Amino acid sequence: MSVTPKKRENYKPLLWTPINILLDFQIYKNYTFVTSNILFEKNDQNNIKNFTLESSIELNGIDLETINLQVSLDNKPFYNIDIKIIFINDELISISIPKDAVQVRILSKVKLYPSDNSSLEGLYESNQMLCTQCEPEGFRKITWFPDRPDCLSIFKVKIEAPLSFNTMLSNGNLIDEGILKDCNDKPIRHFKIWNDPFPKPSYLFALVVGNLEVTVSNFTTSSNKKINLQIYTEIGNKHLTGHAMNSLKKAMDWDERKYGLEYDLECFMIVAVSHFNMGAMENKGLNIFNSKFILADLNCATDFDLQNIEAIVAHEYFHNWTGNRVTCRDWFQLTLKEGLTVFRDQEFSAEMNDIGVKRIEDVRLLRSIQFPEDAGSNKHPIRPDEYLEINNFYTPTVYEKGAEVIRMIYNYLGEKLYRKGMDVYFDMFDGKAVTCEDFLKALELGSNLDLDLFKKWYTQVGTPKLNITRVAHNDKITLNLSQTINEYKSCLPIPIAISLIDKKGDLVQFSINNLKLQYEHIFLLSKSNDKVEISGHKDIVIPSLLRRFSAPVNIKTDLTISEYLHILRHDNDPFNKWEAIQNLYLSCVINEENISSITSILNYFLSEKIISSSLLAYLLELPSKNALENLYNVSDPIDVYNTRRNLIKKIALSLQNIFEKTVSRLINDDIKRSNQMGKRLLLGKILNYLVLIDSKIGIQLAENISVSDNMTLSSIGLKSLCQGDSKNSIKHLNNFYLKWEGNSLVLEKWFEMMSTLNVDGEGVNFIKKLLFHQAFDYKNPNKLRSVLGSFQRENILLFHANDSSGYNFVSEQIILIDLKNPQAAARLILPLTRFNNYSELRKEKMKQALHKIYKKNNLSSDLSEIIAKALK
Ligand code: BES
Ligand code: ZN
Repeated sequence: MSVTPKKRENYKPLLWTPINILLDFQIYKNYTFVTSNILFEKNDQNNIKNFTLESSIELNGIDLETINLQVSLDNKPFYNIDIKIIFINDELISISIPKDAVQVRILSKVKLYPSDNSSLEGLYESNQMLCTQCEPEGFRKITWFPDRPDCLSIFKVKIEAPLSFNTMLSNGNLIDEGILKDCNDKPIRHFKIWNDPFPKPSYLFALVVGNLEVTVSNFTTSSNKKINLQIYTEIGNKHLTGHAMNSLKKAMDWDERKYGLEYDLECFMIVAVSHFNMGAMENKGLNIFNSKFILADLNCATDFDLQNIEAIVAHEYFHNWTGNRVTCRDWFQLTLKEGLTVFRDQEFSAEMNDIGVKRIEDVRLLRSIQFPEDAGSNKHPIRPDEYLEINNFYTPTVYEKGAEVIRMIYNYLGEKLYRKGMDVYFDMFDGKAVTCEDFLKALELGSNLDLDLFKKWYTQVGTPKLNITRVAHNDKITLNLSQTINEYKSCLPIPIAISLIDKKGDLVQFSINNLKLQYEHIFLLSKSNDKVEISGHKDIVIPSLLRRFSAPVNIKTDLTISEYLHILRHDNDPFNKWEAIQNLYLSCVINEENISSITSILNYFLSEKIISSSLLAYLLELPSKNALENLYNVSDPIDVYNTRRNLIKKIALSLQNIFEKTVSRLINDDIKRSNQMGKRLLLGKILNYLVLIDSKIGIQLAENISVSDNMTLSSIGLKSLCQGDSKNSIKHLNNFYLKWEGNSLVLEKWFEMMSTLNVDGEGVNFIKKLLFHQAFDYKNPNKLRSVLGSFQRENILLFHANDSSGYNFVSEQIILIDLKNPQAAARLILPLTRFNNYSELRKEKMKQALHKIYKKNNLSSDLSEIIAKALK
């Protein structure tokens, strides 16, 4: 494999741009011919003055059986041109162009074998359907092309296929269609021609051919354009598209209200496919989705699934402006579209559901996956400086931390100025491929504020540590603030939202550094050390710090247990309530006596119903495995697992009474209603506690609802049973299996739950057997994730077993997966690289399993980049 990394600093604009491309797909049963006709013109956008020299055009191509490739200059005949075609290697062609040429045309014909393509990028087959995945570099598996995001072309696509395929889709608007007949006038094949009027990079190209069902609806934009909305599925699934369709309409409406952004084509299409590496893809006008994030009803999908669908449909739709109309200059700028679009989908979901709870969910995710990444071997800035394989940089850092950085800027500018900045962004850069600097420049122009300070968040790795201590005077408090990152003093701008809570529990007005009185101040810490003076309040007060998690940092304060308890009880910021209880739970690891004061507040919340069920559900959740591991310099996953379990049991025992009362109260006719999501969430959390302490009432209830026709209830029941006796869990999981046999998506839930079990005497063999189960499909990443992902995440005792059987099992599987689907392998290996603060002994064991993979020949660049970094 190539070991020279690509570097951000080496970006060079192209001399020639592919202005338009005609693509012709001839689909046959076992192969597809792709003919392309590309017109290149000189790139005047970047003021390139190098045209006095001879120049060249570089084309990327992977695994293409090239039938022919021809070039023509300035409309002269193709065969007539004397031009050197140079194959730099089998994945890159360079064509030199004489200096006086004005236009270049390149014609190529290649033959593809989609059913042999198991990588799920380029053109591939999924359950008889042909579909594409081109981001980031899959287009080069379809035809010869300068496959980079700063090459914007107008695509016209002709698809011709046998009549057995009723659906032939590509980007943009349908402009022609027809039927082809044989010599006896019998129809045999048909064609469609699609035209996308918006210039786009090749990564946004899409094509779908299959025998599909479609659900149709429409949306009228604010300027009164009627948009045709279509969701395509495999036959038999049409009835499961309602929720996705509603979500799409909500997203379209939200983008108009929030950003003034309207949809721009005649139709918007979504296709659900079974085999997909990621969640979904924003191809222009033709989004392609993992069917898991489209198909749903209350019977077969959980509340969690429904919320995911709403968020992902919105995310991909929002890309139409943040990503498609304004795109990335190069892949180092990925956070330009992904960080921004995640921020947009988070705000959308917050508005559709519960703002406070959504913030808790987002921070939970950030802490459980991004913070460990930022402290591990694959750490990188939100805008990386170099990479071997760009696929490895679709990370929680680029996405989630990227969104946090935009959130800080949004809060710093305020809603109005941020909106002005975004308006400028679209005005200036519509139809262009731009950088993160361009984005910040637009926000500065629109808001008239300087954002220079925030640039550092784009280049700095690691999670900053923020330390806040207090010195109290008579009627003043001095806060001493300091920040460090990676052991070095550094200074990122950190907005810290601060309020004061008085003895009664009310917020009080105060002044920071003698500025005007307010209930909340946002102080921007921009030095490594600073002091602020709080005054103007009366009475004794407790500070509520970093409200709503106003910056993605690790915060340490001198707040005492009783102060946290006060915040938990009274703070009106749901996030800081949750943060307080997280700190309180952590304190119990060191001092168990704290449990009783926490449970007494929980008891009060459970009986008084003064906070929402969903917030209460999250308050009942203990800190993540990662948060506990961070308590120690050297930690062990098995110890942490046991510590956490013991703590859960103690809390359960002390609240057993009210827990049992609460679950019995929650289970009534109402519980299945769609607006009772919070109650179901709470029910699930409490049942987990109850099953763990063998509560008869809890187990009985869990068993009852495990056969419910409501998937949320059924899965709550089963998941909580999985916390208890494994024989009993298997019995109930078997029933579930029999009920859903044949429903591939629901069986993914079954695989996921089965993989968390630790069955006496069977160990990891129990998990291995799942891979040979008739419903398992090695080619389907969802199935791989349901077993191997869930095993590594949830089955702590087996994955981390001292005899390395868990590690060996995973590494053997990864080797096999890498042969077929490198992207999937490179993602599934990540848990095995997270050994940062484990003991030397355990690190060695995990590294040995990685070595076993690394030794193999022909590892993909995806997998070897991840492993090499981990072993370094
Ligand atoms: N553009 C990505 C899809 C993608 C990711 C393609 C990586 C190729 C490689 C898409 O917009 C995306 O970000 N999807 C997310 C879900 C989203 C809600 C964060 C995904 O697929 O996980
Ligand atoms: Zn995205």
